Amino acid sequence: MIRCVVSMTTERLDRQLGNMLIRGGRIIDPSQDIDAIGDLFISEGRIGWLNMERAGSLPEDCSVVHAEGMVVCPGFIDIHCHLRQPGFEEKETIATGTRAAARGGFTTVCCMPNTDPPVDTKAVVEYIKRVAAEEGVVRVLPVGCVTKGRAGSELAELGELSISGAVAFSDDGRPVADSSLMRRALEYSRDSGLPIIDHCEDLILSQGGVMNDGAAAARLGLKGIPAAAEEKMVARDIELARSAGGRLHIAHVSTAGSVDIIRRAKDEGVSVTAEVTPHHLTLTEEMVAGHNTSAKVNPPLRTEEDREALVLGLKEGVIDAIATDHAPHAAEDKMGDFAQAAFGISGFETALGSLMGLVHQGKIDLVTLISKVTREPASFLRRADLGTLSPGAPADVTVFDPRREWAVNPDEFASKGKNTPLAGRVLKGMVMVTICGGVVVHRDESVQLEPARSESEVNRA
Ligand code: DOR
Repeated sequence: MIRCVVSMTTERLDRQLGNMLIRGGRIIDPSQDIDAIGDLFISEGRIGWLNMERAGSLPEDCSVVHAEGMVVCPGFIDIHCHLRQPGFEEKETIATGTRAAARGGFTTVCCMPNTDPPVDTKAVVEYIKRVAAEEGVVRVLPVGCVTKGRAGSELAELGELSISGAVAFSDDGRPVADSSLMRRALEYSRDSGLPIIDHCEDLILSQGGVMNDGAAAARLGLKGIPAAAEEKMVARDIELARSAGGRLHIAHVSTAGSVDIIRRAKDEGVSVTAEVTPHHLTLTEEMVAGHNTSAKVNPPLRTEEDREALVLGLKEGVIDAIATDHAPHAAEDKMGDFAQAAFGISGFETALGSLMGLVHQGKIDLVTLISKVTREPASFLRRADLGTLSPGAPADVTVFDPRREWAVNPDEFASKGKNTPLAGRVLKGMVMVTICGGVVVHRDESVQLEPARSESEVNRA
């Protein structure tokens, strides 16, 4: 029987594995072009088989999950989140952050290096890997700094970071302002094959800004961050990548102009990929009304035209993947004056529900959406074993109910970060079960794990 880790608790991950049948769900796996009703069998931590005729024999010690009416897909992969450990454990820890990820359907997360100390040495990469193995419930892949201390003046030891397990490099939260350093980082990327995740922001243009520059900021009397602050850096780094090569990845794209620049660069053959967050795809600057600090995020929520361009860019493949930029903060960090509040949205636990809104409105199809959180991020990470339900792959599986409605209550989050602009909203689409490496790391209480025997399913052929 499969053991279960309830993701709300802080108990250690029980890695005892077994057999499980997920029965009768709509299996969607873009990596294999599968979209059909069927059964999925998991054995000893790996995908065993998929069967669209629901035949096949089962071993005796097998649990069954009834997934009729639900979607069964590869576990989601988030290439951009903040777990805050080491250094900011009051905002989040690897234990709480990975439990929040599991509740959101994520089985692999890449954590950004703006910790304290930042991830600019082998020791910090190894620390994150060790804590993740001991206290985390999903796969954690650390991202290393581009520059020492994220200070922007000297390249970090990228070779050492990559040997110790960094999967990409970024100074996220800050841009690499020095073009010559960015060029050298891209040259390292070209030689190593590891991507540079680029926080695009011209600090001179954005200085003092706290929300999107435009009519809403003028109305609210807040200083704006112009679209040009992002677009200028997107354009600069695309030009650098055009000559230096390497793998440039534009983080949290937020403007229509950036989408256009990336589209042109891709058409011209520049090696560039891009991600967009659920909040930039679904919300606009209007959320800041009433100086709502939970909607303060960097890059800021933009206009309706920008949001529509992001959805279109995602559909067209200009934007490759969806990444949450889960940025948990303590309540004090978001209190008081809007101008002083921290930037960031706690995003793991609302990602699927808010993205499903786009599907229900007919703005994006379900298979494309799933591809953007499974196959595409796996391909970005060059991990053919992840984001897939291929037999033999690690059993990372997410089961969600596309029609289940639920009201967002941040008090129920596993994340320490209750900072969401969606509190009280009713979302349609809910993660029911998350399985990572064959271990149940999240299960909604309405889903039972039943023994196969009681259903006479043993050796059903
Ligand atoms: O809103 C944000 N919060 N944007 C970033 O780039 C960094 C992040 C954080 O670390 O809180």
